Amino acid sequence: MKGKALPKLFLIKNGDIIDPANGKRSPGSILLKNGRIDKIGKRISAPEAETYDANGKVVTHGFCDLHVHFREPGREDKETLASGANAALAGGFTEVCVMPNTDPPLDTPQSIRFIVEKGSGLPVKIHPIGAISSGQLGKELTELGAMTGEGAVAFSDDGIPVMDSGLMRQVLEYTIPLGVPVINHAEDLTLKLNGQMHEGTWSTRLGLAGIPDVSESIMVNRDLELTAMTGGRLHIPHVSSAKSVEWIRAAKEGGLNVTAEVTPHHLFFTDGSLHAYDTNCKVAPPIRSREDRQVLMDAVKDGTIDIIATDHAPHTIEEKEMPFDWAPCGIIGLESAFGAVWKVLGEAGMELEQVITTMTLNPRLAMGFEGNLFDNGREAEITILDPDEEWIFFQEHLYSKSRNSPFIGQNLKGRVKATISAGWLFKQ
Ligand code: DOR
Repeated sequence: MKGKALPKLFLIKNGDIIDPANGKRSPGSILLKNGRIDKIGKRISAPEAETYDANGKVVTHGFCDLHVHFREPGREDKETLASGANAALAGGFTEVCVMPNTDPPLDTPQSIRFIVEKGSGLPVKIHPIGAISSGQLGKELTELGAMTGEGAVAFSDDGIPVMDSGLMRQVLEYTIPLGVPVINHAEDLTLKLNGQMHEGTWSTRLGLAGIPDVSESIMVNRDLELTAMTGGRLHIPHVSSAKSVEWIRAAKEGGLNVTAEVTPHHLFFTDGSLHAYDTNCKVAPPIRSREDRQVLMDAVKDGTIDIIATDHAPHTIEEKEMPFDWAPCGIIGLESAFGAVWKVLGEAGMELEQVITTMTLNPRLAMGFEGNLFDNGREAEITILDPDEEWIFFQEHLYSKSRNSPFIGQNLKGRVKATISAGWLFKQ
């Protein structure tokens, strides 16, 4: 994506404007003045403005990814805040939340301030998520209040589950007055053991140790029970299994205020995709069966899962080229996200407006961010995309420092053409 500063007046004309916050879709134009929303209407005349012809394209809110790993500090060879921001812009994201499993982890007020300060100069909004426990060791709570004061927008030990139910209860209780969600990586380690992939016929066939679906759903259910008991605010990341969906659906039907996310890779691939031992498909929680995948798609459709998040997790080529059992878990996903999810969910009959809502309004509301991006006077965060473009995703489409994407070589549908963020226009 090439970036240039927006001119004083910039007119996006003839677009198919989707405004998820107000549930509206209509043809029209958007005028930006000094990088801010000035006017949205059917026809806008601004002869002195530079124009972008959005004929045949959708113009919508910048995407928000509430779950990425940018590896700074500590593993800048895999990703930095700056390289992660470039990957985000290429994928149409203008706002992201970075997970705290860095080296050292984001487990102090100072480390939260480091991310806020370093991220503030970048053309993507970068929000830090603080660690739940000191050193992510699952023993002692971090300074939740002071970290929120420095800008932590949620708490998570992501990558590592909170095994101690008492600690999970505490963090759900203590975050209530802070008004931020708790995001627990739900995998019971006593069931996961040395598992390498989803436990099923494929793991047997491939001779790889399996990770049962209940290792996730047992912990999801525990967390839902603790949320009901404490009145805390829970967000469930990377839901992978049908059994977890059942628990979440029941809890939501019972009135519990909980949100849940699914990744593009859990929607796109199945355990059979690991047939050639591709370590780029190795991820935690694992990619599960065809039946699980179908339930995940249905859950997005009926709103049980309300958010799509990438879990963008960069790793080096050397690490991913190790034997399957030794390779680290993780998949990068920012650049391919929209093309992957629109391909599978569009083909499954979902409306474009709903898919966009899971990548814009819903994650913002879950994190307590402003969701109404098309208000007059707001700094523009806009994504322009062609929902009909079919393309093959290649390595050259990556802006991340890492290459661990199983989407390379896949046919995708829907492509981000331009992203407007922080006074900049980025075009493919
Ligand atoms: O596969 C994963 N990789 N899952 C996680 O939750 C963490 C992530 C990472 O940081 O590499």
